[in-house]
Amino acid sequence: MSWFGNLFKFGAPNIAIDLGTANTLVYVQDQGIVLNEPSVVAMETLNGIQVVKAVGEDAKMMMGKTPDSIEAIRPLRDGVIADIEVAEHMIKHFIRKVTGSRSMFRYPEITICVPSGSTSVERRAIRDAASNAGASQVYLILEPMAAAIGAHMPVTEPVGSMVVDIGGGTTEVAVLSLRGLAYTTSVRVGGDKMDEAIISYVRRHHNLLIGDATAERIKQDFGCAVVPEDGVGEQFTLKGRDLVNGVPKEITINQANIAEALAEPIGAIVEGVRIALENTAPELAADIVDQGIVLTGGGALIRGLDEYLREETGLPVTVAEDPLTCVAVGTGRAMEEAIFHGVLMTQ
Ligand SMILES: Nc1ncnc2c1ncn2[C@@H]1O[C@H](COP(=O)(O)OP(=O)(O)O)[C@@H](O)[C@H]1O
Ligand SMILES: [Mg+2]
Repeated sequence: MSWFGNLFKFGAPNIAIDLGTANTLVYVQDQGIVLNEPSVVAMETLNGIQVVKAVGEDAKMMMGKTPDSIEAIRPLRDGVIADIEVAEHMIKHFIRKVTGSRSMFRYPEITICVPSGSTSVERRAIRDAASNAGASQVYLILEPMAAAIGAHMPVTEPVGSMVVDIGGGTTEVAVLSLRGLAYTTSVRVGGDKMDEAIISYVRRHHNLLIGDATAERIKQDFGCAVVPEDGVGEQFTLKGRDLVNGVPKEITINQANIAEALAEPIGAIVEGVRIALENTAPELAADIVDQGIVLTGGGALIRGLDEYLREETGLPVTVAEDPLTCVAVGTGRAMEEAIFHGVLMTQ
């Protein structure tokens, strides 16, 4: 870059982005996380042309409540970019929101975390979106690596460790050692599948139709991986539409019911961990016996999931300190700290 370019670059704080299937977080150099919003875009069709109506928090509030002309889209829903154009709108919107109107005069370096299973076409699209939003340079980091750095795992040492990041659309399981991913697998099961499992349980057992937002709230407030000790747990009411006579109705269920509903998606996550362990080289597997497994991502907050995974694998399992922000913090640290620069990729 010429001295002229450098002049402009000087002082522009660099940006790290956790582009999650459910939430996008933006971390600004020396400031930390400055934005945390749902990865949702509401698109409105006006005279046959699609325009962005709202992004993030505002768009999520519209989900399930939009008229026909507005569609709330989650562009990364299953861990792949389902809609590249919409994803690009979202990335640009969040970058602009953080850099403000001065962005025209600033060319930050942007580090973005991508799912380990993303294709080169998808990575290219994410890079282009960041470049178009004004990045002078774009670096990518693999999501499990970012999660592990954010969770303070020993990724730079010759010690094997395992991270399980349970997001909205996917669960990424990875074995890390010496700044590299020794093994990684992605399961298309996460918080969304848990919400769906609750919806289908309530429909099957109570003939009641509930929405996505209601299911997510129940999962967050009462979700548990195993039936509570007293066999019932907390009781609570929930409202929806009766499938028999079509009118709104309220029912009472308990945490044991939710544990039953979640058994299938949680079983799939445990299976992913088992497969990863089976595919891990013996020396690294031996390290994991000592280091244990660290859980990150919003799904790590399901009550008793750590305990359940401990029973199923016989390994130590811990939940990272702030599981919802691990990936963003890890991406930010990878950008800021020279010791991690080896994990950043330019394509
Ligand atoms: N307390 C909680 N208990 C269970 N699930 C939670 C909790 N808080 C958030 N979640 C779920 O975590 C998921 C979002 O996690 P996140 O790590 O942000 O996903 P992503 O990285 O894919 O955007 C959502 O499905 C959300 O419902
Ligand atoms: Mg994530």
